[in-house]
Amino acid sequence: MKGFVPTPQRTVDLMVAELFRDKPPRPEDRVLDPGCGTGAFVSGVLRWCRARGVRPPKLVGVESNPHLAAQARAACGGQASVEIRDGDFLTDPLQEYRFVIGNPPYVPITGLSEREKTLYRKLFKTSRGRFDLYLLFFEQALRSLKPHGRLVLITPEKFLYVETASPLRAMLAQKDVQEIRLIDEQTFGDLVTYPTVTTVTNSPGRGSTLIVFRDGRGVRVSLPPQGDSWLPVIHGSKQRTDVPVLADICVRISCGVATGADSIFVHKHSALEDGLRGFAFPTIAGRQLGAENPNLRTRQAMLIPYARDGRLFEEAELDALGKYLRQPSIRTKLMLRTCVRRKPWYAFHENPPLPDILRPKILCKDIAAEPQFWVDRSGKLVPRHSVYYIIPKRAENIDALCSYLNSARVREWLEGNCQRAANGFLRLQSSVLKRLPLSIELVERAEQRSERDRAHHRPSPNRRKSFASGTYAFEFAR
Ligand SMILES: C[S@@+](CC[C@H](N)C(=O)[O-])C[C@H]1O[C@@H](n2cnc3c(N)ncnc32)[C@H](O)[C@@H]1O
Repeated sequence: MKGFVPTPQRTVDLMVAELFRDKPPRPEDRVLDPGCGTGAFVSGVLRWCRARGVRPPKLVGVESNPHLAAQARAACGGQASVEIRDGDFLTDPLQEYRFVIGNPPYVPITGLSEREKTLYRKLFKTSRGRFDLYLLFFEQALRSLKPHGRLVLITPEKFLYVETASPLRAMLAQKDVQEIRLIDEQTFGDLVTYPTVTTVTNSPGRGSTLIVFRDGRGVRVSLPPQGDSWLPVIHGSKQRTDVPVLADICVRISCGVATGADSIFVHKHSALEDGLRGFAFPTIAGRQLGAENPNLRTRQAMLIPYARDGRLFEEAELDALGKYLRQPSIRTKLMLRTCVRRKPWYAFHENPPLPDILRPKILCKDIAAEPQFWVDRSGKLVPRHSVYYIIPKRAENIDALCSYLNSARVREWLEGNCQRAANGFLRLQSSVLKRLPLSIELVERAEQRSERDRAHHRPSPNRRKSFASGTYAFEFAR
């Protein structure tokens, strides 16, 4: 059974009311429910007509699962105006309808056969990358609409911003997207994350779409035409170019170090032999960031074959680390990494910018239910790949910046602008963090240039020397 999730009656009634708003159906009109399951929307349309004493339009339900189609037929009680077809909505010949309403199947690409994937890639513009069946249903539903016809579909909210839905957004932006209603998260229990009802009329766009948020607020927005994420305009954060953003006051906003083989390079510090300790830097992973570890304690060390100026050591300079890495089982594993096609066998997947990393910085998890930020005041932690790090240009601003990043205002902005992972968690990305708008107070602080600050940017020769060759003092957790 492919993606059967029945729509609750309350939601069906809300969607049918939206379908016929200012546009009541005439008996000769045709209404399509693609993937009709047990006929929730067909029944909903009949209910709407009965309640208003109007003759129902012609109703067509298409369902690929014969058992569900049989149940839909039974539910609609042999009404002459209803036809339930056993068929494949995606590949059967297209017909045109004045109204289309439905709840398409949510089936990720991993749930499709090779034959289906190849066929859909040929047939649909929306079959980009790791597409989901609901995107193809959306495209086919749009194609099935008569000029000026109306479509109301319920889908996950993700199509508003994920990269794979970019072709669908570009397609929708050519039409009159009348309303996007973000509805109750619990509509389908835990089965569908962030359900969203979209109403589209098959006419050229009128430049304005009503967005209704889950708290009932409504805003009118103009959707971008090229398939870009709709989140920035939906959340009203379409930024003026003159608003200072996080990137303006930071040296770097990046994802942590990708070794390409953490099992080889990351170990408990206490388990390392003395020779290796000279190459060991305290390191922290996303799962170690949390309220239970406010001081960013870690037992883990990363063995780093790079000098503190970011240069990859020559193999001859590696000493004990070279001996460890050259062990046949370890070397074989390192050689299997794709990065060794373009760089020495012991290099990291990405070169770590150590001069930047080894500075006071702000850390956060790459994926979180609620983003939170911590200060590594020591500047000694090397963030793992599951951690983002933010290095302000002026170290003395770090606490003010961190508390701003932990403010409700930033949290709201991130919720509106970050992509969501499958579990609904927010996925932080440096491209999004970089355009986070700053508070006026932070901008003012950043602009106050003090003597102390200049001294910080021009370390004395002595300080530079101790930075390059000093012993590495960090107290590992026990
Ligand atoms: C999310 S369910 C919705 C069912 C019903 N519309 C409702 O809202 O209660 C999606 C339905 O699409 C059907 N389906 C999946 N692929 C299909 C296809 N290619 N053609 C027709 N129906 C399909 C599934 O069997 C399932 O019944």
